[in-house]
Amino acid sequence: MMKKFYIATDHAGYALKAYIKEYVTSLGHDIVDLGPDSADRVDYPDYAKKCAHAVLADKGSFGILICGTGIGISIAANKVAGIRAALCHDHYTAKLTRQHNDANILCFGERVVGKGVIEEMIEVFANTEFEGGRHAERVAKIEGCAFGSELE
Ligand code: RB5
Repeated sequence: MMKKFYIATDHAGYALKAYIKEYVTSLGHDIVDLGPDSADRVDYPDYAKKCAHAVLADKGSFGILICGTGIGISIAANKVAGIRAALCHDHYTAKLTRQHNDANILCFGERVVGKGVIEEMIEVFANTEFEGGRHAERVAKIEGCAFGSELE
């Protein structure tokens, strides 16, 4: 099924952005580029926030966030309530985070993974459904973590 993606990076994730956009389009999905428009230094939280808000505003859409390691940009995106940004490293983690976490943003590090792994991660992330059931109860508890209510 056709999916809508929003993509954003920092300067350390910028180099692969054009390639990834082309790849996502070749799979028959839509992709919207939220910047940046050059490789000039930028702060990853600004782009994490932009992408997180776009995904929340467009039900059923997914995000792709890239920085050098994928760590900073995923940490920032996960501060936005309703966002489950998964830092993935391979086909397995990208698949499981859809099945078990209902992740809505795929994050990875441009300095960490190569094009082949990135293609596999995007394809499986787009095509894997959330399993629901016991996983839905756990996912529902995630929002409660922000207030400490489920941590005692
Ligand atoms: C930028 O140098 C780098 O710190 C950033 O892209 C990211 O890896 C942070 O987590």
